Amino acid sequence: MENIQNKEIRADIPLLNEIIYLDAASTTPTPEPVINAMVDYFRNFNANTGRGAYKTAVKSTVAFDNARGKIANFINCVSNEVIFTKNTTEAINIVANGIEFKKGDSIIVPNIEHHSNFLPWLNLKKHGINLKIIKANKYGVIDSSDVEKALDDTTKLITTTHVSNSIGSCQPIYEIGDIAEANDALYMVDAAQSAGHMKLDVKETKADFVAVPGHKGLLGPVGTGFLYCKSDIAEQLKPINLGGGTVSDVSEDDFKLEPVPARFEGGTQNIAGIIGLGSAVDYIERIGIENIEKHSMKLTKYMYEGINNMDNTICYGDPENIHGIVAFNIDGMNSHDVAKILDELKNICVRSGYHCAIPAIKHVGADALGGTVRASVHYYNTKEEIDILIETVNEVSRFAGA
Ligand code: ALA
Repeated sequence: MENIQNKEIRADIPLLNEIIYLDAASTTPTPEPVINAMVDYFRNFNANTGRGAYKTAVKSTVAFDNARGKIANFINCVSNEVIFTKNTTEAINIVANGIEFKKGDSIIVPNIEHHSNFLPWLNLKKHGINLKIIKANKYGVIDSSDVEKALDDTTKLITTTHVSNSIGSCQPIYEIGDIAEANDALYMVDAAQSAGHMKLDVKETKADFVAVPGHKGLLGPVGTGFLYCKSDIAEQLKPINLGGGTVSDVSEDDFKLEPVPARFEGGTQNIAGIIGLGSAVDYIERIGIENIEKHSMKLTKYMYEGINNMDNTICYGDPENIHGIVAFNIDGMNSHDVAKILDELKNICVRSGYHCAIPAIKHVGADALGGTVRASVHYYNTKEEIDILIETVNEVSRFAGA
């Protein structure tokens, strides 16, 4: 099958004719084929999954299971290692609340994480779990040797983001995977900003857990995500959301859990959304993950250089080691004001503020300007759009410096 080209994906997302959408790190607009897959479910086989014996219910169950299979294939694992969630945050909380930590255990976590990969661990401090926080360098990158130094007999889990949502910096997840394996520590990767943007083979990461959103890089709908959880580890994880679909037997005194992953997917799932996500994975495969990665890398560097070359702007992160995200500020201007002006002048959509990563923003010293302006790209973006961003930031920065 022919690869989908940038102009074809743009035609599949009519919204891109109205705005310059540079907020892929928040969520991505949904391409028409993905919308159509969901409409097909709603119109033609709208029934619950795993419950009904009638034909329509069987059809919806098969479509739901097929989506799981496509995702598993895409990240190189088996189907029952994919646990559906509504987002990355839920995926991480399944791990944080499912591991049987004991008092005195410790968790190693960088200081540049999204709150979703920080608060669930911070919360465990109340139960006597220690956090060992690894300080990133000025570009927002941690050194794997610092992780190694922080390891000791108390280490239960190492967790890190792959690509920082606030700075765009790529972390050495493969080196950390080797360290975790050599030291018998559990290992989790938050792939919120890398899945669908670059190749993600969960086996290569050596992670026990990888948390993934459906609605960002993978181009699926909002309200979808999943947790990759290695089979043997999943057996040891305590499910936190018990109810319909999670048990195979119940008495007045006890219950027997369903096998993995059903035991983690309590209640009716986002069936349409997951079918949409399966179709989004097909779509990503037709574009080609290597094409996406190369395209975004080019745009990211170009954007970084264009903005950083101005007299009164600052870009965060190392241009050689960021992916898909450029975080910046204009001297003396609040980040939200800059974002509003970009929207007013040229319909440019960027996120501003703390990006749900207050420690990371403090780490790069951007709190004085109310956080950063963050422009983030995907395959649908063009060089022409980045040129308009650069020209408009330049205009605003000249005005600010006048
Ligand atoms: N986590 C998303 C972001 O970084 C919403 O913008």
